[in-house]
Formats: sequence, structure tokens, C-alpha cells
Amino acid sequence: MDALTTTPEWAALIDHHAQIGTAHLRDLFAEDPERGRRLATEAVGLTLDYSKQRITDETVSLLTALARARGVESKRDAMFAGKRINVTEDRSVLHVALRMPKQAQLMVEGTDVVAEVHAVLDKMGTFCDAVRSGSWVGHTGRRIRTVINIGIGGSDLGPVMAFEALRHYATDDLSFRFVSNVDSTDIVEATRGLDAAETLFIVSSKTFTTQETMTNAQSARAWSLAGLGGDESAVAKHFVAVSTNAEAVAAFGIDTANMFGFWDWVGGRYSMDSAIGLSTMLAVGPNGFAELLAGFCAMDEHFTSAPLEANLPVLLGLLAVWNRNMLGCATQGVMPYEQYLKRFPAYLQQLTMESNGKHVTLDGSPVDADTGAIVWGEPGTNGQHSFYQLLHQGTTVVPVDFIAFARSLNPVGDHHDLLLANVLAQAQAMAFGRTAAEVAADGTPDELVPHKVMFGNRPTSILLAEVLTPFCLGTLIALYEHSVFVQGAIWDIDSFDQWGVELGKVLARAIAPQLLDGAPAPAGQDSSTNSLLERIKGMRS
Ligand code: F6P
Repeated sequence: MDALTTTPEWAALIDHHAQIGTAHLRDLFAEDPERGRRLATEAVGLTLDYSKQRITDETVSLLTALARARGVESKRDAMFAGKRINVTEDRSVLHVALRMPKQAQLMVEGTDVVAEVHAVLDKMGTFCDAVRSGSWVGHTGRRIRTVINIGIGGSDLGPVMAFEALRHYATDDLSFRFVSNVDSTDIVEATRGLDAAETLFIVSSKTFTTQETMTNAQSARAWSLAGLGGDESAVAKHFVAVSTNAEAVAAFGIDTANMFGFWDWVGGRYSMDSAIGLSTMLAVGPNGFAELLAGFCAMDEHFTSAPLEANLPVLLGLLAVWNRNMLGCATQGVMPYEQYLKRFPAYLQQLTMESNGKHVTLDGSPVDADTGAIVWGEPGTNGQHSFYQLLHQGTTVVPVDFIAFARSLNPVGDHHDLLLANVLAQAQAMAFGRTAAEVAADGTPDELVPHKVMFGNRPTSILLAEVLTPFCLGTLIALYEHSVFVQGAIWDIDSFDQWGVELGKVLARAIAPQLLDGAPAPAGQDSSTNSLLERIKGMRS
């Protein structure tokens, strides 16, 4: 594929940016009273209002032309057909098969993957019904009261995010905890006060080799057996596994009858709707989980069928490319004005940054344009009283996606109207700001005027839905998954590998013996690490 910056579509965008790059949203709205209505698209219950992005209709045309030229549609179709688009790992990328309906069929290299997916979903459903109803009992015959998911990265962030997002729909009969960090405080605090006889661990790991997860799982096993009198047969009643690695699961001591499988074509950060979502299904039940999958599927269908100009993930992805490459914005805020989505920004960080934090294209050449932005965020309105000052008056422009819902799941008094007033006000303030004349007209003393001026022209989008449901959550996650895909397709990078996380793992394995067994520093280890290790040993002795 041609280098991105050598394409005529790129050149057209550069020219266009030179023409409109300094246009102010104040003027764009003043000149075009229909802008707010026109630059918005609705599908599967989600509205994307992108009228406060620094674009015009022509920008959208040029960006969709770029998408066509970069083969976004054919790359998308290749993904949905199970082609091995994860080239560096030689794998299909088929998280979309996880939410295809039971009657669908997708043959990949001679196997109907949809049938396999539904066999696992059925097994998960039977297990979840048993635990939720109390018919699954622990080693001492007591029902399970607490479920602890042990996993990290995609085997943790999706489950935690989904549990928090859907806790309104979760059973009160079970409580849920999540352990990810190798820091022992995590497992100690997660098990504090619990009765091992009523505690079920889900060890979630695609590879079943991840150091953090395996270390936590061993400690959980020791805690569980200590609380259950040391009888090894108790493990079968208190540990289940979610993994692609049956051999390692068996070696850990978990009966593979209690293992829920998935496949190498599900990337970790794309796995929350696979068996990795077992804790989610335990919380909201098989029907709630089916609704979540239906939401994903609805967005998949929209992504594959809607014209690019009215395609939510395509538009979201193209706006991200515009902001990153034309406006030069290195970061992207995502601010959910919905308390239940408090872990959504953390989830998106892995989804977006592990996918598109890449420095070479598919053929290994250096990229010629910046790739994935740094994604971050906090639920509203909390951020308003901390970092929004920088969003409004700092020297760095941070595009923001605001996520809002017309209705609260917990309506109390005026709260929700005030919440919505705030999100709309923030988008207004970022777009239109406050001129010196407006500030002065308030009677502000001259010397204070510059301090109160807000330049505005800060790009934002608002994603609006009626209310947060499992279905809606599915649409929202699939929206961002496919937006990431679109960006990766434009940049021609592999959005599905993660080689950059490997070096740290290798180095930690080399350092660990120096702490665990007092092994000598290997020749050539840097003086900073050597000195810090000496200090640590000194502090411990
Ligand atoms: O190291 C990064 C990573 O491989 C992620 O991509 C993944 O989600 C996480 O580690 C956990 O991996 P696993 O599920 O195999 O334990």
C-alpha cells in the first residue's frame, strides 16, 4: 500500500486544512444555522453529534475519500470474513463472530466459528444459572456469594468495566471483585473478610501464562485451600478458568470441564464479549449477556452496511485521524457523563492504545504520520473540578468525546437535569469560549480580562443515547472497536498485535531472580538499575 502521505487524498486534506484550519467554531455555527442538526448521525440508538468538531461538510467528503482510498471497506470485509489480517501474528481477527446470532454461520478454514461460539455461550449459560440459583455449591456445600475475577489487561479491564457499567442490572445474590495487579495488596484486599467456602475464583487468561495472573491465581489457590482445610479436591468447586490454553489450565489443577474456551482469533482487548465475560454473565445473567451481544451485533451490522458518510464508527475513526494528523492533537479525552461508565476510559485506553500505538506499517516500514492518540478520561462532572481548566485555557488542544444519556437509571430530584446541563455546557464552552469583548462587557477589570478569555475552538463530539442498557453498552463498545479499526486501516498498521509490551516482560523476568534469590546482577546491567536494587536490598535488611 502506498505511503499515506504520498496519496492524493492526503494531499487534498492538507490543502483543505490550510484553508479551514483556523476557522473558528463560533463563525462556522454563525454562518450555518443548520450545522448542529446536519453534522449528527444516529444509528442503533446512538447519536453522534460531531458538529462541534473543527470540520466542514467538505472535510467529511475528503475524509471518506481517504477511507475509500485506504481500503477501509475491503479491510473491514476481510476482517468479517476471517482473513488473517493480524499479519504479524498470522491470525484472523474475529471478535465480531462472538456476537453473531445462533442461526448465522461463518466458515473459517473449514470450521463454523459461530457454532463454536454458541457452544461456549451455552456452557457459560448453564454454569451461570447454576451459580446464580445456588445449585452450584462450594466444597462445604454452601452456595457461592462472591466471585473474584483474576486477570489483567483485556482479561480484566473489560470484565471490570462491564460489571461497573451494568451493575444496575446485576443480581444482588452475588458480589464481585476483581484482581489484576501483581502487587499483593490487590489479592489481599480482594479476599479480605471473605469466607473461602462461599468464594469462587475465575482465572481469566487467554494464554494462561501471564505472570501477574498466574501469581495471583497461585496465591488465591493457597488462600482458598487454607480456608477450606487444605483438601486439594476443593479447587474444582472454587476455581474455574477462561482460557485458550487447556493444557496450562489442567496443569494449574483446574478441571478442564470447568474451563470456558475461546480462540486465538479473539484479541485480549477485544475479548470482553467472549468467555472472558463470564463474570459479566454471572452478574447480569445469560439474558442480560445476550442483550449485550445483541448491541454489539447491531453496531457490527451498521458498520458493515451504512454508507461511510453516515457510518458511526467510520465517522468517529475519521474524526480521530483528522484531529491527530491535521490538527496535531496528541491526546483524546473520553468523558462519560454516566457514573456507571466510570471505568470506560480505562477500558478504552487498552482498546485504543494497545491497538494503534504502532510505529511501523503492515510491511514493517516506519509510519509517515502520527498514529494512535493518548486516550484518557474521567466521569463527569468530577473532571470539571480538576483538569478541565487545561481543556479550556491550557495551551494544548484536547479533543473530547462526551458520552451522555437522556435518562438516569437512578433518577433523584434534579440530579440528571443538572448532569446533562453540565455536559452540554462543557461542549459549548469548549467550542465557543469567551471573547475579550464579552468578558469586558461583564464589567471585568481590564487587568483581569486576559485571564478570563477562553479561546474556544476546542473540538468535541457528543455521543447521546436514551439510557444505559446492556444493549446500549454493546453498541458503544463496538463503536469504539470499529473506530480503532478504521484508524488502523487508514494508517495501514497492525491494530491487533502488541509487541511493544513484550520487552518489559522479558526484562522483569531477568530482574526478578536478583530480588527473589539474591542472584548477582548480570554483566552489562545498567548502573541505575544496579544502584536501585542495592538501595531496595538495603531498605529491606
Ligand atoms: O501483555 C499484554 C497482554 O497480552 C494484553 O494484550 C492482554 O489483554 C493481557 O496481556 C492479558 O493476557 P492474557 O489474557 O493472556 O493473560
